[in-house]
Amino acid sequence: MATTEEHLMDWLRDAHAMEKQAIESIENQIDRLKSYPQLQSWVRDHVDASRRQRELIETCIKRRGGNVSTLKDIAMGLFGNMQEATSLFMQDEVLKNVIADYAFKHYEIASYTSLRSAAEGAADAETTRVCDDILREEEALAGRLLPLLPEVTLQYVNRDLAGSSAKR
Ligand SMILES: [Fe+2]
Repeated sequence: MATTEEHLMDWLRDAHAMEKQAIESIENQIDRLKSYPQLQSWVRDHVDASRRQRELIETCIKRRGGNVSTLKDIAMGLFGNMQEATSLFMQDEVLKNVIADYAFKHYEIASYTSLRSAAEGAADAETTRVCDDILREEEALAGRLLPLLPEVTLQYVNRDLAGSSAKR
């Protein structure tokens, strides 16, 4: 049976892999969003936040005596799953990505809520504080993305009608 400390270490490693995936799956959207500047700026902020969060989680792993050189960051396939879940918009890459990004943000919020509770259970005040900071950042990013969706949808439709490549 694993101890609270062992669970916490496993879940910190999962969080590290999740942030790596957040960076890799979304970074490649930036160049394709030139026609959607607000969305492009959100994606940039999301990638910057994910880089900082990955560093913070790595610091927690080190402080708890974990070996960061063995972080495998197994591809979790999370983002791909969320894109599949939005297959309604399969032809519409921009919309599909925004919806998957929003779903991913909420996956992160749930994960850090759980991780925070494990950190508290292990009496690790510093990791608890780091989770609180990350949670605030994730919630702010999710909150900024949803209001962009109606405008991006209409912009997509109008660009499609005008015959421009709505996918860019
Ligand atoms: Fe994150």
